[in-house]
Amino acid sequence: MKAIVYQKFGGIDVLQTIEEPKPAIQANHLLIKVKAVSINPMDWKIRKGEMKLMSGSTFPKHTGVDFAGIVEEAGTAATNFKKGEEVFGVVANTMKEGALAEYIAIPASSVWKKPVNLSFTQAASVPVVGAAAVEILQKMGNITAHSQILINGATGGLGMILLQLLKQQGAKVTAVTSTKAMDVAKKWGAGRVVDYTKENILSQQSRYDVVVDLSGKMGYTNARQIMKPKALFLNPTPKPIEIPTALFKNLFISKKHIVILSKPSAKNMDLLSAAIRNGLQIQVSHVFPFAQTKQAYQFAEQGGYIGKVAIEIS
Ligand SMILES: NC(=O)c1ccc[n+]([C@@H]2O[C@H](COP(=O)([O-])OP(=O)(O)OC[C@H]3O[C@@H](n4cnc5c(N)ncnc54)[C@H](OP(=O)(O)O)[C@@H]3O)[C@@H](O)[C@H]2O)c1
Repeated sequence: MKAIVYQKFGGIDVLQTIEEPKPAIQANHLLIKVKAVSINPMDWKIRKGEMKLMSGSTFPKHTGVDFAGIVEEAGTAATNFKKGEEVFGVVANTMKEGALAEYIAIPASSVWKKPVNLSFTQAASVPVVGAAAVEILQKMGNITAHSQILINGATGGLGMILLQLLKQQGAKVTAVTSTKAMDVAKKWGAGRVVDYTKENILSQQSRYDVVVDLSGKMGYTNARQIMKPKALFLNPTPKPIEIPTALFKNLFISKKHIVILSKPSAKNMDLLSAAIRNGLQIQVSHVFPFAQTKQAYQFAEQGGYIGKVAIEIS
């Protein structure tokens, strides 16, 4: 079978398509015929060696972490699934494993039944960003219709789900996007939209109870300027040093810096499946065939897309 691997850290050029044996499964595993894999920024951060501390430096490495597909074979202990079922999921260790292959063997605990109203590319786009959106929502605590919430970078994969979950809760959100994404941000639930190519949100008068930075470009020090005295800064793109230091500093400061480290689970996928049944939309703006994996990453790494980019395996 074909799989995408790389033998050293680097840019898109290190990606290779190789032939390797179909993986064998253990009792608690499923063998999945992969139909789609979505692209996440973590794929290229790992590939470029920016997350070496967690990914390690052994090669070859596979890539692509969330997927949708069809159960080809269920291990003897994976009794919740049967051959032919449509599923979606995430590799068990997102730092060390990859789903971009024709078949993957994966613990049944990392796989869930695909929502019937989603295509394979849409379902593959849910686990990583969906789990983070749920985690961010939970960390916001008790938000009311009066809470002032800012989402910076609101129309990528994570923002797409977070905006719509907040809308389902009746929250009022200011979204920061590029010009072409302003309409979609409104459609997904933003009450007010600021175009970052024309206005600097940091120099405006508004103050927020919650600031979420999905662009990775704002940072806590900048965000402080637009936070109310007891506000939260929710940060899913922390620098490694911020993971312990934010916790410690929060003991002494009122404007809290909350690092988000999420993991897809049955609980958060159930919540998302319910939200999807309730109308939450998964927009996959661009789908590339498996043979064009490099082009898919080249496109995604440039940014400027709305929602998600996915790779389809026929
Ligand atoms: N910690 C966790 O558990 C976890 C889980 C999932 C994701 N993440 C991280 O969370 C971040 C967001 O994920 P994602 O999948 O949504 O990424 P994404 O699809 O690349 O979205 C990033 C968004 O930031 C916007 N942006 C770029 N420059 C900006 C600027 N200067 N000001 C405001 N917005 C700007 C982009 O808009 P344009 O493209 O229109 O410029 C895009 O909509 C990524 O860094 C990802 O690695 C963390």
